[in-house]
Amino acid sequence: MNKDIDRVLFSEDTLKNVVKDLGAQITADYKDRNLLMVSILKGSVVFMTDLMRSIDLPCEIDFMAVSSYGNGVKASGTVRILKDLDRDIRGYDVLIVEDILDSGMTLIYLMDVLYARNPNSIRICTLFDKPERRKVDIYPDYKGLEVPDEFIVGYGLDYAEIYRNLPYVGILKREVYEKE
Ligand code: IMP
Ligand code: MG
Repeated sequence: MNKDIDRVLFSEDTLKNVVKDLGAQITADYKDRNLLMVSILKGSVVFMTDLMRSIDLPCEIDFMAVSSYGNGVKASGTVRILKDLDRDIRGYDVLIVEDILDSGMTLIYLMDVLYARNPNSIRICTLFDKPERRKVDIYPDYKGLEVPDEFIVGYGLDYAEIYRNLPYVGILKREVYEKE
């Protein structure tokens, strides 16, 4: 897999520190709240498991799966719920845990769906943010790192379902996706 990576953007150590800082902020903000962390499958799984262990509060977790991309590198603009939450979110302070905020289309849709279910609050925590690519007005409440407009993989992020298990984040060589 390493041979398909053009360059490493964020090392394992960098990611560890960023996640620890986010966990500390969330711990401070959600004291006395009823925190429910909602991980958006599958990209945010690696981030979720590290982030939840850096939060020093009682909290619950749940998962949602949506599809917006197919296998390619460009957004299609349509969002489908593939797996919904297990519980009613009334009374919960929902924290959406996302791998990367790109066009924002996925999250703007999800926020609408979840708001309609009357939780106490909803906030967004994204590990990566590509603000240049935003198509809708959406701002993360917590964000780890800004990234340039390039396709990145690793630490949960995939290309055609591969590379999620890389422990670092890198930029994929163009030839990997341009040959298709
Ligand atoms: P959005 O609806 O355009 O904001 O889509 C966000 C989703 O697209 C993320 O949760 C990722 O699954 C995927 N995505 C966006 N950019 C990248 C990238 O650079 N690498 C891998 N997946 C990406
Ligand atoms: Mg995702």
